[in-house]
Amino acid sequence: MFRRLGWLVLYSLAALLLSCLLFLKREAKPAGDPTARQPFWAPPGPRHSQCPPNYTAADASLSLPARHRLFLTYRHCRNFSILLEPSGCPKDTFLLLAIKSQPGHVERRAAIRSTWGRAGGWARGRQLKLVFLLGVAGATPPAQLLAYESAEFDDILQWDFAEDFFNLTLKELHLQRWVVAACPQAHFMLKGDDDVFIHVPNVLEFLDGWDPAQDLLAGEVIHQALPSRNTKVKYFIPPSMYRARHYPPYAGGGGYVMSRATVRHLQAAMEEAELFPIDDVFVGMCLRKLGLSPTHHTGFKTFGIRRPLDPLDPCLYRGLLLVHRLSPLEMWTMWALVTDEGLKCAAAPRSQL
Ligand SMILES: *[C@@H]1O[C@H](CO)[C@@H](O)[C@H](O)[C@H]1NC(C)=O
Ligand SMILES: *[C@@H]1O[C@H](CO)[C@@H](O)[C@H](O)[C@H]1NC(C)=O
Ligand SMILES: *[C@@H]1O[C@H](CO)[C@@H](O)[C@H](O)[C@H]1NC(C)=O
Repeated sequence: MFRRLGWLVLYSLAALLLSCLLFLKREAKPAGDPTARQPFWAPPGPRHSQCPPNYTAADASLSLPARHRLFLTYRHCRNFSILLEPSGCPKDTFLLLAIKSQPGHVERRAAIRSTWGRAGGWARGRQLKLVFLLGVAGATPPAQLLAYESAEFDDILQWDFAEDFFNLTLKELHLQRWVVAACPQAHFMLKGDDDVFIHVPNVLEFLDGWDPAQDLLAGEVIHQALPSRNTKVKYFIPPSMYRARHYPPYAGGGGYVMSRATVRHLQAAMEEAELFPIDDVFVGMCLRKLGLSPTHHTGFKTFGIRRPLDPLDPCLYRGLLLVHRLSPLEMWTMWALVTDEGLKCAAAPRSQL
């Protein structure tokens, strides 16, 4: 009996010793060191703009979800440097196409560049400038790929802040600053996601009726939207971050177009505004401060095409300006269908405009 107990104690001691050794070995490795896990071809990460966290805001938001706390902790940080940017805008840029992308969305950018983002006949000879708006998102794809895309296509605009849903407002603010500083001549700017199909000729036809010196922001306007108070929803906003019952009218973030005058006015308003994590609502708030309201246009389908309409019916697109949520494959298919000269459609649904 005692002998068995003795063995048991001995075994336990040995096991304890072994686990101690393993633990020590693990600790010896620099666990949190990010450079330890970077592949050999990864360049040193970008220098992050110095902006200390606001611990008062962090402490005051202990009960909120982690992402909201992070947002509030860094909300005052709003000056980030440019990592990559196009060499400029052509002098006679008519329409600037500013597309929110992410470093990893290489295929979406490739699809846009070779379909609706192409200049030439499709753009009716108007000067377009395409730029992709990026933040920073770890080591994949490697910075070399973005540098290559930037050198090859001259359409990458990247800032030194983390790519995050709640940082889209930073993208909005930095884009607005960039346009005012580097592309003030553009008559209009269309801002959209990298999964939208834009019918450029229809957008140009619509814009022909507007003066860039007048205020205009057109898109799919949402009125009386209620802030989500459900913590499980991506768009959750606690009353401490937005107290009013409704959001001001705003154009769905999938895509909207604005005039040169509005770019300038919005930029000034944004500089004064406290950042709000939902970018399209933030634009709505700034418009309201300016005393402007967004213009609704049924040709913007930022929530996609709903049944019974068929999203791949090319005739549908004749009356549309922008459709949200297409994969690169659907983008190519749509392009092939829309540009098919043999295509016969019944009378274009002009009444929808
Ligand atoms: C930090 O957060 C607190 C509470 O939200 C706020 O009152 C204060 O102005 C913030 N400080 C800075 C530097 O933004
Ligand atoms: C950002 O830059 C502006 C203008 O250069 C400056 O007024 C502001 O204080 C800066 N904000 C922060 C948080 O560094
Ligand atoms: C936004 O980007 C900044 C700078 O990279 C980062 O400190 C912050 O955590 C990001 N915000 C969110 C909500 O991820």
